[in-house]
Amino acid sequence: MQQGYRQVPTVEEAGLVLYNTCSIRDKAEQKVFNRLNDYKKLRKQGKKFGVLGCVAQQEGEKIFEKAPHVDLVCGSASYRNLPQMLVQLENAPIEEGKRVTGLDDRMTDECFETEFTARTNPHRGYITIIEGCDKFCAYCVVPYTRGKERSRTSASVLDEARQLVDLGYTEIQLLGQNVNSYRDPSGNKTFAELLATVATVEGIRRVRFTTSHPRDFGRDIVEVIDATPALCDHVHLPVQSGSTRVLDAMSRLYTRDEYLERISWIQAAKRDISLTSDLIVGFPGETEKELEETLSLMDLVGYDSVFTFKYSPRPNTPALALEDAIPDAEKARRLAVVNDRQKVIGAARNRRHVGQLLEVMVEGKNEARGQWVARTSQIKVMNFTAPAGVQLATGSYVNVLVTGSFPNSLVGELACGSDLVG
Ligand code: 5AD
Ligand code: SF4
Repeated sequence: MQQGYRQVPTVEEAGLVLYNTCSIRDKAEQKVFNRLNDYKKLRKQGKKFGVLGCVAQQEGEKIFEKAPHVDLVCGSASYRNLPQMLVQLENAPIEEGKRVTGLDDRMTDECFETEFTARTNPHRGYITIIEGCDKFCAYCVVPYTRGKERSRTSASVLDEARQLVDLGYTEIQLLGQNVNSYRDPSGNKTFAELLATVATVEGIRRVRFTTSHPRDFGRDIVEVIDATPALCDHVHLPVQSGSTRVLDAMSRLYTRDEYLERISWIQAAKRDISLTSDLIVGFPGETEKELEETLSLMDLVGYDSVFTFKYSPRPNTPALALEDAIPDAEKARRLAVVNDRQKVIGAARNRRHVGQLLEVMVEGKNEARGQWVARTSQIKVMNFTAPAGVQLATGSYVNVLVTGSFPNSLVGELACGSDLVG
């Protein structure tokens, strides 16, 4: 903005296209190169192209070889250099071989402060509290693309929370690859204390956090949720597999029983905390019996929803040394089995809300269906009706009576007098 750039709604209108990328799974990475290929024809119109994010960090200058029409490559460790890189890009006529790169090695970064944050979600303000990951799960590329764990000071997190309130946000989500290993560089607060403090910032009504790592997830988190109304009734606790043998091969640093123990703490809370997870199927060597263990763990936990993935070999990761012998079709079958099971579990979990009065934050209206769309504290989608003529502001809070449920959403009716809530 300060340099005279402004966002435009379409690629066609843009003079400069910055493409932000993710390399967590091979499919995401393939998409990047397919999309860059699509952009090639736009080059003739004089547009410039930059690639940002983890694929840029991982592939570096190789991007110029694979996609010669790219002018700028800026890895996730170099965002703070982006303004200078743009000046370079403007000043240097881009001839063959004269390209702008920002490929700092993140491993040397001790601490980080985010100076530039894009706010694309109008309802939820995201605050990164910790960057990087020291866990080195055998399948995961993040420690290589995002580097070592670095936490922000609690004071700067709180400052950003206040700024978000000034911008009109009432819901905040604290982000990190592993928020439970948050260490305040100023030594003032544990993660649980940070959660409690952010929740007291005047004007904040909902606080969420993700992602938790089971190994570092402590009872203090459950206690602070119980004690702090603004903390949402939701914990995302990725398990990846229900088999201790597979968990060990994945270097996840916990067993099935240790994971289930953490779940029992959450289920013993006074509040009705929803549970979500990530699951990988088809990790090298996963047997049918081990897949069954994942299914039985899903039954035992009773997840509200899960994100499921087929194992995908990633560069630099230790799992590359294991043979990826399970064919893609078999991985797809396992994925379908897990998703089918979750449909049944999710449907049962959602049914328990029928008849309850839940506070939701309004996100918009589906005019075609005549329904308002909102989120519960448990992060469930709620589609609800309101009497004709009632106008609800997006971002406002209302109470809704749950009248029905599906595996992935709830339906309801605006409760009488609840337009006064928000
Ligand atoms: N293959 C499949 N899924 C992966 N994830 C991370 N790396 C891989 C991989 N190589 C999944 C994990 C993680 C989520 C963000 O992405 O489930 O929790
Ligand atoms: Fe990747 Fe998460 Fe494991 Fe870190 S904890 S290595 S981000 S899967």
